[in-house]
Amino acid sequence: MDNTQAIAPPSYSRRQLLNFLAGTTVAVTASAGAYAMGKFFVPPAEKGGAGGGIIAKDVLGNPIPASQILAEAPGTRALVAGLAGDPTYLIVKEDGSLDSIGIVDSCTHLGCTFPWNGNDQEFQCPCHGSRYHPDGSVARGPAPLPLKIVQVAVVDDQIFISPWTDLDPRTGEKPWWV
Ligand code: FES
Repeated sequence: MDNTQAIAPPSYSRRQLLNFLAGTTVAVTASAGAYAMGKFFVPPAEKGGAGGGIIAKDVLGNPIPASQILAEAPGTRALVAGLAGDPTYLIVKEDGSLDSIGIVDSCTHLGCTFPWNGNDQEFQCPCHGSRYHPDGSVARGPAPLPLKIVQVAVVDDQIFISPWTDLDPRTGEKPWWV
């Protein structure tokens, strides 16, 4: 099922932000009318868990169970608070599991946040028009670099997010953020 059929009113990004603030899973899609949301304020994430990762939380600092994210349709991009509180997209795969790669919601041009456009299957930055493929690689500039990615693991219904320090699977090279 493609959750991109959700209605996208002009205030979609604002609604998305409000959903996030309420601690609910944010499903994702957006089209025209999206605007930059800016960084969310979130409390410091707790250390610990798998691989020293932090637990994915909502903006109020409440852990988000994996089951809550996985209740969304395959293809969903759900926004959570990740490393250093950075808004981070988690991806529900077609097989209903959580992708082991999360994508940080910060444009590599000038740092705007951006929505996922399910119709175009792209992350689309509203600030200057950069577009990214589903894996975060650049589809159209001015973004100079692929989106930062993080490792995602599920343990006992908790979602752990940890830094990605391996080779960047999109370039085969050392990540630009390491
Ligand atoms: Fe995203 Fe400029 S900040 S295109």
